[in-house]
Amino acid sequence: MTPGARVSAAISVLDAILAGVPAERALTNWARGARYAGSGDRAAVRDHVFGALRCLRSFGALGGGTDGRAILLGSLRAQGIDPETIFTGTGHDPAPLSEVERRAGRAPTESEARDLPDWLWPRFRAALGEAAGAAAEALRHRAPICLRVNARRLSRAEAQARLAREGIGTTPVQDRNFALQVTEGERKIAQSPTYREGLVELQDASSQAAMEALALPSGARVLDYCAGGGGKTLALAARLDGVWFAHDADPGRMTDLPARAGRAGSDVRICGAEMLRDLSPFDAVLCDVPCSGSGTWRRAPQAKWTLTPEALADLVRRQDGILRRAAELVRPGGQMIYTTCSVLAEENEAVVAGFAAASKGWRVTARRRWPVSTMGDGFFLAQLCREE
Ligand SMILES: C[S@@+](CC[C@H](N)C(=O)[O-])C[C@H]1O[C@@H](n2cnc3c(N)ncnc32)[C@H](O)[C@@H]1O
Repeated sequence: MTPGARVSAAISVLDAILAGVPAERALTNWARGARYAGSGDRAAVRDHVFGALRCLRSFGALGGGTDGRAILLGSLRAQGIDPETIFTGTGHDPAPLSEVERRAGRAPTESEARDLPDWLWPRFRAALGEAAGAAAEALRHRAPICLRVNARRLSRAEAQARLAREGIGTTPVQDRNFALQVTEGERKIAQSPTYREGLVELQDASSQAAMEALALPSGARVLDYCAGGGGKTLALAARLDGVWFAHDADPGRMTDLPARAGRAGSDVRICGAEMLRDLSPFDAVLCDVPCSGSGTWRRAPQAKWTLTPEALADLVRRQDGILRRAAELVRPGGQMIYTTCSVLAEENEAVVAGFAAASKGWRVTARRRWPVSTMGDGFFLAQLCREE
């Protein structure tokens, strides 16, 4: 495909997304009908689409409109590419620019340049203060790809050497013990023997840092209450000696966990909701709750535009409900660990403070946040202790 044909494809995919189709599905639908597209073409179209989704407002301003064509036009202008070289009308390139399109477009306003919905900006400011601008800016760019080295199986240097032999370049992430940022060959990871054998896992550096910050007594019985794929438990189990249990309201999300844990050399027991009473109390319960994902929006940028104040309020209610239920499963003297990949105070400090204020016998012992940066996603961790 020519560069222009790739932009044409991205325009059609973006229009489908703007009409409400989830981004991944829109890309899959396009790829199914585009058998001629090679892997490089599919990757390029995906990059165009995700790049545009991260910067919808600023690109829209630069392109003078809100549909896929205007936004891709704005994207080219933002990158300093002459749109006339892409919008040629030849072959599968987009139709030539009209006079109106040539004249349309302007510099984004300050608010558009942040590429956040207006209602969210005050919440970013409230949560992050002076750092809000840097966080919004970080969300406008691609996320780093990060691996966690399984310390039970090999050292970070050994993992780096193995990956290099498989064509995957990495660099150790500063101030993290097990994190490698991928600098080259990221598309080879899924097929890489080092990854497939469970020697490394894909895991963001901030979420790794949060799990590294946790200390638990040896042999602790730990329940991951919202386990999903189990990434957090696997990170803990690779470093600490504990007895690991995983639960999720949607058990289907844990389907791959036993195999992943086996590959990683860890033992994680899957628990249905009906087993929790009998297995409790636990020494620690981790609640990696469903959240807006605002700290990870550069990976899933559609969510930045679809979140509403009502949906956020609903998430906060769910987070509070999860903390209350999970609290009943912790032994006296035990701890609850609350985490989100959100930067919003409503989902972080406010939920934890609200729970501690409303629940007798609980004390917040630690709170920490990691900013969205070139190193990792936005992440929040709080530890709460139950009185003896
Ligand atoms: C942020 S994800 C967890 C990601 C996972 N911990 C990991 O590291 O891969 C949140 C999970 O919470 C689960 N969940 C949602 N509501 C829940 C509830 N009321 N009780 C338990 N789990 C819930 C979701 O199914 C989802 O898998």
